[in-house]
Amino acid sequence: VSQLTPPKDYRSQLLEDVFYGFTAYRKYLPSKYFYDGRGSELFEQITELPEYYLTNAETEILAEHADSLMARIQPDELVELGSGSSRKTIMLIEAMYRSGPGRRYVPIDISEDALRAAAKELCGAYTWLEVEGLVGDFVADLDKVRRRGRRLIVFLGSTIGNYVPTLRYSLLRSVASALDAGDSFLLGVDLVKDEATMVAAYDDAAGVSSEFNLNILRVVNRELDGDLPLDAFEHVTRFDPISSCMAQSLRAKRPVVANLKALDLAVSFVEGEEIHTEVSCKFTRSQVEQDFADAGLAVDDWLTDSEDRFALVVGSGG
Ligand code: SAH
Ligand code: AVI
Repeated sequence: VSQLTPPKDYRSQLLEDVFYGFTAYRKYLPSKYFYDGRGSELFEQITELPEYYLTNAETEILAEHADSLMARIQPDELVELGSGSSRKTIMLIEAMYRSGPGRRYVPIDISEDALRAAAKELCGAYTWLEVEGLVGDFVADLDKVRRRGRRLIVFLGSTIGNYVPTLRYSLLRSVASALDAGDSFLLGVDLVKDEATMVAAYDDAAGVSSEFNLNILRVVNRELDGDLPLDAFEHVTRFDPISSCMAQSLRAKRPVVANLKALDLAVSFVEGEEIHTEVSCKFTRSQVEQDFADAGLAVDDWLTDSEDRFALVVGSGG
């Protein structure tokens, strides 16, 4: 495991992001800051919730198509953005072994804890696999990843949905420029469906989504020497039909004044004020085709689960 973004850059970026987010007209925090060690564990718990259908649906597609995909693509290396626990990716790694000479896996994640745990497990389980874990921001750092042969870039879990259209465009542009002729791209996207199903996935009965959302305040408090009171905020999630995105926020249950010593900043909230923390955008096939075309990517195949909840898009540089 090595660093694409040096830790001091991560911290200065965090300081800048929190400053801009907390002094904005409507307060917000970038969702990538959910994922410290605890946040990554909470996300894994979310994937096991009965309401969070995304992981099961994507697993179903991978189980059915991993072998034929890998036989067709025949990558030398598998580069994964936001790999987390790499649990679903194992299906692709095993299929890569069965179908061709590819033996290299390059997971990129901002969460060093998640990356180290996954790399350790993979190296133990697959002695033939060369794992090069990279700690970094896949938006800013993708062009720093050195290439070794035919490449497959994998971006699972609908993490692309955590990016609003402008950032999604830059992300897909940087994927396009990291692909050469003959390379491929595999993207998981959650599909628009009935509102109740989508809302339940972000507001589970056990309260894990709420814990995950509140964890971003723990990260801010720890990194910025802050005293934001977690018990003063509540988890909010809603579907916005105009953007087709779920939007998560934290709402102040009472007036709050908090200090962030590292920024020398006092931040106040009136009762009911929200910190926007995350969008989870949902897609249609035509939306994905448009996004790909805008970024100079081609959609080569579209695979869905049996209930049409989730899609795996097979793409390439246009
Ligand atoms: N791919 C896994 C994990 C999804 S959770 C799955 O499908 O289940 C999102 C992952 O992306 C987390 O591991 C988080 O740490 C990582 N992540 C989020 N924003 C990131 C960024 N800007 N750069 C790198 N990793 C990021
Ligand atoms: C990682 N990402 C795709 C998840 C999602 O569904 O947007 C993160 C998440 N947020 C709340 N629950 C899960």
